[in-house]
Formats: sequence, structure tokens, C-alpha cells
Amino acid sequence: MSEFDQAYFDRGLERRGTECVKWDAMLEQQGDPEMIPMWVADMDFPSAPAIQAAVAKVAAQGTWGYTRNGDRDSEALSAYWQRRHGVSIRKEDVLMSPCVVSGMRMAVQALTKPGDGVLINPPIYGPFFESIRQSGRTVVESPLIQGDDNRWTLNIEEMDAKLAAGEAQAVMFCSPHNPCGRAWSREELSQVLDLCRRYKVPLICDEIHADFVYAPCRHTSILTLASEEDAVLMLCAASKTFNVAGLQQSSMVSRNAALLGRVKAQRDMSGVTFGNPFALAATRAAYTDCDAWLDGLLLYLAGNRDLVVEHAKKWPKVRVTKLEATYLMWLDCRQLGMNQEELGRVVREAHVFVTDGLFFGSHGEGFIRLNIGCPRAQVEAALRRLDTVFAK
Ligand SMILES: Cc1ncc(COP(=O)(O)O)c(C=O)c1O
Repeated sequence: MSEFDQAYFDRGLERRGTECVKWDAMLEQQGDPEMIPMWVADMDFPSAPAIQAAVAKVAAQGTWGYTRNGDRDSEALSAYWQRRHGVSIRKEDVLMSPCVVSGMRMAVQALTKPGDGVLINPPIYGPFFESIRQSGRTVVESPLIQGDDNRWTLNIEEMDAKLAAGEAQAVMFCSPHNPCGRAWSREELSQVLDLCRRYKVPLICDEIHADFVYAPCRHTSILTLASEEDAVLMLCAASKTFNVAGLQQSSMVSRNAALLGRVKAQRDMSGVTFGNPFALAATRAAYTDCDAWLDGLLLYLAGNRDLVVEHAKKWPKVRVTKLEATYLMWLDCRQLGMNQEELGRVVREAHVFVTDGLFFGSHGEGFIRLNIGCPRAQVEAALRRLDTVFAK
């Protein structure tokens, strides 16, 4: 029996007063001490003991000068991706960056020109839009298609047509997809990669949610399909999986040396080169000594997901997206007939704080996103409160 069982995750931890965005910024902004935070994508669980020990060891150094990002770091990342996802990553394929969003921005700036179009599949994580627009590029949208079974799929024909028409000079893809919860199949990923090959455009693939894929689905990394000739850049981090996002450490990975060289030049120009000693130590520990913790977490989150799916049967006008991946549930509230402002207000009045669907672009209108990365009692409390709005 693993020590990381249901009882372990049920305990959670008190985060109020740590300056965390999820609780403290929400309280400051909303002024409602009763509000349950089910929004920003981090979790209300303690990080794995091996990470806590690694960070404590660095804290005990008593001095924290410039710290190198060395072979140990890339070896830990490689071993992890090989073990967990069957991907082989060489040392020379990896570039460090502080976070995935900064990597996304550097990639857009390095691999496209001002005015170029970048194709994305909304509804999608807000910074996809910002990293394109604020870099002076144009957002080109090919929205996902919602199936009758609440599973979302790509519109490959439309993506093909937009690329064929020269509307986009790069594709930025989210795999697994936030907020639509898809773990893309090998076939779907191959279709996207084939389009990028055919139209000779780079593919930037954000795999930050790779570890949160529920059986029987599996995460297929784009790197298992791409060769050295492909203009493919994969972005990943231990931050989401192991709840160390505040430490700021991520990686950009490509087997294509020329492409990685362009991204490196952009990164160096931005002045970002080194991580910090706490982040590096935490990430090495995460990639090396935390598999049992992660396996326990995945079972626990699958239990939270099943609980929400079962409970939502009481909500006749809310459709819950089938969650193959991530701990973020995408709720389609359009049948309630409320406008976005009203929807946000009634949910807040029920003392539950969720992410507004419009954070994911205009195709998120009528939706909210519920973060279930927290102890089950917190999920249950939020669901009971949402009954006052949805069980009608
Ligand atoms: C798809 C996706 N990419 C990136 C991020 C943020 O990553 P980082 O904190 O490393 O910038 C998130 C956070 O929710 C996310 O969902």
C-alpha cells in the first residue's frame, strides 16, 4: 500500500497566508472569506516529500549565489520522460526557461515574423492568445468541435484550409488540451504534424499537462512522432504536476538543432538564462523521486473527476466535458440561458470561484472551468454550493 493514498491527499494543506494567488489574491480581490477557490491551475496538496526535502536542503545552504543548470538537470528530465512517456530526449535537445508561458512567447518570437498568423484551437488557455498578440502576430482560430458525448475534437479540414490559404505561419498546440480535457490520440497528433510538414510551418506544442492523463488514455508526446527534420518544439515543466509552479522552471525541447538554436538566440536576447537553485533542486527531485506520489495523485484526481461527473447528473442544464486529461473540468452552462456576467455573478454568490470561460477566448462564452486539484471535501463543498445555481 502506498503512503500516498486517499487519506494522504484528503488532508490537503492550509495555503491561506502564503501569498498564493489561488487563496490570498482571491480573498483580496473578492473580499469574501467564504469563497472556495476552484480557479487558477495549481493544487491544494503538499508537494511530494522528496521535493520538500530538496528545497529544505537548498534553504539550509544559507547562501544562494549564481547556480548552474547542469547535466544533472537534463539527465533527470530525460530519465523521467523516458520512464513516464517513452520519449527519448538528449541533453542537447533541451533549453531551460523560467516557465512555459515565457517559452511560448520566446518560441513565437523566434519562429515567426511580425504580422504572421499563428493557428490555435480555442477555447484554449488564455496566454496562447496573448503570446501571439503581444508579439505583434495574428491569432488564427480553428475552434474545437464539441461532440454529442461532450468530447472535443479537432477540425482538421479547417486547419488544413487555413494553412493552405497561407493564413498561418505556425501552429501552437495544447496537448493535453486545457480547458477541453482531451488527451490527443496518436492519429490526431499525426494529422497535426502532417499539416505542419505539408505547409512547412513550425509546431509549438505545450505539454505541461502531460502527466495528468487518466487510464485508459495515455499521453503521446509529439516528440515520439517528430524526427530531427521536423520543426517541432515541445514545452514542458514539472511545475503543474508537482505543484511547484511558484518556483519557475520549465524546459523547451527539440531534436531540430537549427530550430532550437533560433529559440536559444531569442531566449538569450531576452536575458533569461539561468534557473534558481530552489527551482532546479525541486525539479530534479520531482523528476527523480516522486513517481509514487504522482501515481497516488492520479488515482485521487480520477476519483474527484468521477465525483463531479456523478454529481452533475443533478444539473439538467449543465454539460460536463469528458475529462481524459488535466484536473480542470470544463462546464458548458449555455443552456442555463444566462449571459456571461450573470453566470459569473450567480456562481460567485454561491461562494465558489471558478475561471470564467472567456479567459479561453470568445468560444468559451457560456462556460466555466472548475479546478478539482484539491481535497475531495473541498470539491464536495463546492458542488453542494453549485447545486443552488445548477440543480434547477
Ligand atoms: C496549457 C498551459 N500552459 C502553460 C501554463 C502555465 O505554465 P507556466 O506557469 O509554466 O507558465 C498553464 C497553466 O495553467 C497551462 O494550463
